[in-house]
Parts: sequence; C-alpha cells; structure tokens
Amino acid sequence: MKNVLITGGAGFIGSHVVRLFVNKYPDCLILNFDKLTYAGNLLNLADIEQKENYLFVKGDVTDADQVFSLFSEHAFDTVIHLAAESHVDRSIANPMEFVHTNVLGTVNLLNAARHNWKDAFEGKRFYHISTDEVYGSLGDVGLFTEETPYDPRSPYSASKASSDHFVRAYYHTYGLPVILSNCSNNYGPNQFPEKLIPLFIHNIIEKKPLPVYGKGENVRDWLYVLDHAVAIDQIVRRGKLGETYNIGGHNEWKNIDLIRLMCGIMDKKLGREAGTSEGLITYVKDRAGHDLRYAIDAGKVSRDLGWEPSVTFEEGLDKTIDWYLANTEWLRQTTSGDYLSYYRQQYEER
Ligand code: NAD
Ligand code: TYD
Repeated sequence: MKNVLITGGAGFIGSHVVRLFVNKYPDCLILNFDKLTYAGNLLNLADIEQKENYLFVKGDVTDADQVFSLFSEHAFDTVIHLAAESHVDRSIANPMEFVHTNVLGTVNLLNAARHNWKDAFEGKRFYHISTDEVYGSLGDVGLFTEETPYDPRSPYSASKASSDHFVRAYYHTYGLPVILSNCSNNYGPNQFPEKLIPLFIHNIIEKKPLPVYGKGENVRDWLYVLDHAVAIDQIVRRGKLGETYNIGGHNEWKNIDLIRLMCGIMDKKLGREAGTSEGLITYVKDRAGHDLRYAIDAGKVSRDLGWEPSVTFEEGLDKTIDWYLANTEWLRQTTSGDYLSYYRQQYEER
C-alpha cells in the first residue's frame, strides 16, 4: 500500500480505521474523503490531523466529477469504502437518501477505480465495508455465514445489499480487484448517539427515558470497534480477492439484558443508587420490520487470517462508557442542533 483512499473516515468506524492506518503505516498516504454529514465529525481525528501522511478532503462519494478528479490527482492503490448512511431508523424515515449514498455512491467509486486503474489491476484493491444486516433476520438458532443468502429487510440493509451486489458484479464483469466484509454491530468511542449503546449512555447521563423498542427481546452480536478496525487491516492486506469475510464478536445480547447491564455499570460510575437508571427504561412502539436476531459465524476470517476479537465485552463496554463520560464536549456538540429535531421526530412524535 502506498496511497490509500478511505471514504467515510470522519464517521464512527472510519475514524478508528484512519487512526490505525495513519499510525501504523507512516510511509503511506492516508486520504480521508468524507462529506461530513451529521455523522461525520473531524473532532474524531483531532489527535492525528497534523500527521504528515494524513490528508482530509471534504467531498461526496455520489459526486462523479469530484470522485474522478480525486482519483486522477492521487495514485490510489487501495480503496477502503466506509462512507454510507448507516442508521436503520433514519432509513425507515427517508429511504431515498440511503439509495443515493449507499448504492449510487458505491457505483460511482467503483467506476472511478475501474477507469483510473485502466484495467491494470495488479497491486490494486477495492475493499467494501458492509454489514451482517444484509442477511436478514435469524430465529433463535443459527449463525450468518458467508454463504447465507441475502435477505435484507430494512431500507438500510437493502441499500447495503445492493451495494454489495454491485461490488461483486464489478469483480465478475470487469475483474476489478474487490474484497468485502460483513460485520456485526459495532460499539465504542465516537459512535453517534443515535445507535443503541451511545444513545442510552447519553440518556442515562441526562436522566432521560431509555426508549426500548418492543419488548427488548431482539438480539445483536456486539464487536468493539477497534477489533473491527484490526480485522479491516488484516483483510485489506491479506484477504483473497473476490472473497467475502464475515466479522463478529461471538457476543450475543438480548437488548434488554444489555440495557440492564449498562444501567448497573453507569449507576456505579455516576455514584447513583443501584436501580436508578433501570427506572428510566421505557418500552416504546417497536421499530417497523425490526429484525429479531443477528449473529455472525466469524470462522472464515479466523481460519484464513488468524483474526479474533481481542477485547472482551466487559472491557469494551467499560472503556466505551468511560470515553463518553470523559468526552462531554464531544457529546454536547453531537447532541445539539439537528440532533434535537431528529430526537423529537424519532422518539417524541411517533
Ligand atoms: P457513520 O454513520 O458513523 O459514518 C458514516 C460516515 O460517512 C460519516 O463520516 C459521513 O459523513 C460519511 N458520509 C455519509 N455520506 C457520505 C457521502 N455521500 N460522501 C462521503 N462521505 C459520506 O457510520 P459507521 O457506523 O462508522 O459505519 C461505517 C460503515 O460500516 C458503513 O458502510 C456501515 O454500513 C458499515 N457497518 C457499520 C456497522 C456498525 O455497527 N456501525 C456494522 C457493520 C458495518
Ligand atoms: P441500533 O443500534 O440502531 O443497530 P441495528 O438496528 O443496526 O442493529 O439498534 C440495536 C438494537 O437496539 C436494535 O434491536 C434496535 C434496538 N433499539 C432500541 O430498542 N431503542 C433505540 O432507541 C434504538 C436506537 C435501538
């Protein structure tokens, strides 16, 4: 790798990937291309923005002219594509935005890579970051493998599934050197407080109601974000072209059990009487089409590349909660402005 394009590098996962690559590969240029939507935040990268091998370019993956000129200005050999609209609830409210960014944006990048690389693909890699949600919803047993048929059920997962299909189509049709991975739910520092864990941490701090969808019985498989970043590093360098790798934490939690666990930890950290935060739990109308269970079989990435999650859930949750408690300015900024109208629409006017 010499010139690496990372899209969506100012977002949650992207910022951890950018930091890992900037620090680990001082001889590579790491270019972060991000539109800075509500989910993108350059504060996430304040500690590395002065590094010589780091460059930020504000831009939109759906803008063909901009993406094509970026490719002609920099001789990228590696693309790691994370830019996306990523929140299921927002996709239910506004599906077209997801089609635009996730499908069109991905095809745009594929076209730019193909044309710029001029079919001389030796040493090039286009790595598309995707989600386990493309596989649909599991019952009480079973795991998603790389062979599980796609069955997306939300506008978000349908848009990600579509982008995955395009990436594979470019491999088969044009020989573009692609790799994909599909990961389970991430958690950790810098996650925008619209997703379950950071939203609930924020609401517990503020003593606001904790809105549990349905009965809280849906199950998710949680992975610490840095473990995902390490998997991405392994896969981009050592993964086999044309292949897909599932990444997961072997760490399934029913929402309500996870929420109770978080409440207990935070009562202790905030010096509140045990049971205080559980008292904030409020059952609300279920999410439309709410997938019951996600769980990943991460056997292939472990067998082929030796990757395993390294952070236990206890450690990861502890670090995450500590990060939000310490970064009050980040939390204050992300939960002001547009966030307030999103919150009102999503939780108070439904
Ligand atoms: P995020 O919403 O935190 O960040 C997305 C980033 O993309 C933001 O910085 C945003 O500004 C940028 N972006 C959005 N539209 C853009 C556009 N048109 N052009 C350029 N940049 C744009 O998302 P995340 O949670 O970090 O997820 C990153 C990727 O990983 C996504 O592709 C997502 O589907 C995938 N993924 C996420 C999870 C998870 O649990 N968060 C799990 C598996 C896979
Ligand atoms: P989320 O973090 O949105 O991730 P995803 O839906 O992509 O898995 O949600 C995780 C789980 O938490 C999911 O089952 C929905 C549930 N949830 C709530 O119960 N209340 C909430 O306010 C949110 C945001 C999520």
